This record gives sequence, structure tokens and C-alpha cells, in this order.
Amino acid sequence: MKIEVDNNKVLFNNGSSIQEIHPFWLRERVDGEKYLDKGTQQRLFDPSSMNSEVSIEKAIINEGFLKIHFNDGVNLKLALDRITSEFSKKDTVIKSINKIKWDSSLENIKNFNFNENFYDSKEMHEMLVSFYEYGFVIIKNVPTENNFIVNFANSIGSVRRTNFGEHFNVRSKSNPNDLAYTTLHLSPHTDNPYRNPVPCIQLLHCIENEVKGGFSTLVDGYTVTENFKKSDPEFYKILSEVKVRFKFTDKSVVLEDWSELIHLDDNKEFKQVRFSPRLDYVPILEKNKLDLYYKARKKLSDLYNAEKNRIEFKLAPKDLMMMDNYRVLHGRTKFDPEEGNRFLQGCYIDFDSTEGKLRHLKRKFNI
Ligand SMILES: [Fe+2]
Repeated sequence: MKIEVDNNKVLFNNGSSIQEIHPFWLRERVDGEKYLDKGTQQRLFDPSSMNSEVSIEKAIINEGFLKIHFNDGVNLKLALDRITSEFSKKDTVIKSINKIKWDSSLENIKNFNFNENFYDSKEMHEMLVSFYEYGFVIIKNVPTENNFIVNFANSIGSVRRTNFGEHFNVRSKSNPNDLAYTTLHLSPHTDNPYRNPVPCIQLLHCIENEVKGGFSTLVDGYTVTENFKKSDPEFYKILSEVKVRFKFTDKSVVLEDWSELIHLDDNKEFKQVRFSPRLDYVPILEKNKLDLYYKARKKLSDLYNAEKNRIEFKLAPKDLMMMDNYRVLHGRTKFDPEEGNRFLQGCYIDFDSTEGKLRHLKRKFNI
């Protein structure tokens, strides 16, 4: 990738083709103090209200910078690598972290240790990278007083409040409005598939865990569905095409959203799984299609529930687990409340929190 100048035209040469860069694209990037507020890095002019028929009177390249004089009298000095980075069209911070596939053979899960300076530290950066690699991470020794989970979440980004509150207490109670608040076994599921948008990340903080059961279980929806694509392409296809209705109802709210069980991005690549078989309603389709759909869903359910795809472990008091609710399914084994207390606190944050923090730490430590 190279930026070149020819006869006052600025060219982008990617090795196999050369294209001219629109002069107004460059004019929009003028960053002298008259044009850009240094503190906020926001423009002090509005390019959407300007005539885009601007032309370049003089362009030169000198010591890694492109210098331009435009016909409206404005000058630009722009680092060449800033231009080439924009041409890569890649979110170099998040997308450059490759997802690591895992199943029950995953060993030596890397834990992180909370300390006073954790939030703005290199460990936090490492923790976030690990989170994007595996879809979950565990931080040990996180204080448990005064709903500390809210503090923790707000120090990465902002809590995503829902009708369950800013945070929720997971312990068995009478008349629960969700099976999470019972002592029952919970099979692998993603949370809140009926919300628009679905909360991106769930934090679960263990306050007390005195029971013998109550193990946490995790399944990597990314690994399972990528393998499923190869083993059962027809099943994969129908589950990534048919949108189903997810619904939650209680006394004060009715929440509803439609999505495929395997949601793909514009390039037909993995984006999100939703799975909560107590809450999904498949639309009425031709009998043959529904027949295929039900077989496909059963197969996917079998895979999500298979021992070979699941890791199982016990959270100890002060352990805080952070899970990607678009990628990882979670559950728990049943427990006997007569054995003691089991008390977890949970809350949600969205991807802007982790992404924003990660970019900030990369900038801070020049990583
Ligand atoms: Fe859940």
C-alpha cells in the first residue's frame, strides 16, 4: 500500500491497482486548529454542508506526510500511514483478535487477578484480549461488598440496565419470574434473546457458594456452529435463515424480538447465537420446511448439550465471570439449598464498553 502524487492528484496504490483519492475525502480530514478541536478531536466545520467540488492546487509528499493546498485556500498536512490505515477498512483493534475455538478439552483457563489499579492497567488490556479470544474470562478477588459488580462494570464502560434492574441477584426465591431464580438445572442458553438489542456481555459475580452442586457450565456457540456448518450444512442453512420469535412476559412488561438461532453477518460469517428453548416460537412454515427446521434445532440442541462441548467449573466467592452473550452459552447444574447459600450477582454491559476500553488501553500503552 502506497500513497503517491501525480500531477496534483493523490493516488492510492495497493500493489495491483491504482486509484485516485477524491479531493474532498482529503479536504474532510483537514486538522489544523481552526478546523479540528484538539481536545475532543471533533470537527469545527461541517463537511456535509459544503460543496464537494473542491480541487487540489498543489500536492506533495515529504518525510512521511502528504501536504496539500486546496483551491479554497485551505492547507492540509496528513501522515501517510493515517491514510493507508483507513484504506485497510478493518477494525484493526477488535477484528485483529482471532477467536480461539474451544470445547471440553480446554485446559488451563487463564484467570486474572483484581487489584486497585486494574481498570486502567496492562492486565485489563490482556484480560480484554483474552475475552475476545475465548468469549469469556474469569477475574479473581473482586470485592463483594455493596454490589461491587456495578462498580466493576461501570469502570469498563456502562451498565446496561434492564427490567431486572441495574444488577440482579441470582438466588432461589419463591414465585420467580425466571428459572434462573430457582435451584433447577439450567441447560445451556443465552440470556435475554427477546430484547432488542440483546445485551452483549453478562457479568456474573459469585458472592457465596456453599452448596456441593451449582457448577457453572459454558459452551462455545462459535465452535459448535462452525463445526455444525461442516457436519450438517442443510441444518445450518435453515437455522441461519429462519427468524423465530423470542418472548418474555411478566406482570409489567411484554418483550419480543425475532432472530435466527444462528445469526450471520453480511459476509455470511458468525455473528451471534440465540438459544433459549423455553422462550422461542417458530413461525408457521410449510410442513416440509418445519420438519427440516425441527430436526435441525434438535441436532443443534444435542450439540449444545453434549458433554464434549461443555466446560464445567465451580465459581468461588469473589470470582467474577464475564461472558460474551452473543457467542457463549451458559448454564448451571442443580443444587440443594439445604446445603448452604448460593448467591451470585449479575449485570450486563454492551460491546461499546469493552471495545472502547480496549482501544483506549491500546492507545495509552502504545500496544
Ligand atoms: Fe442466564
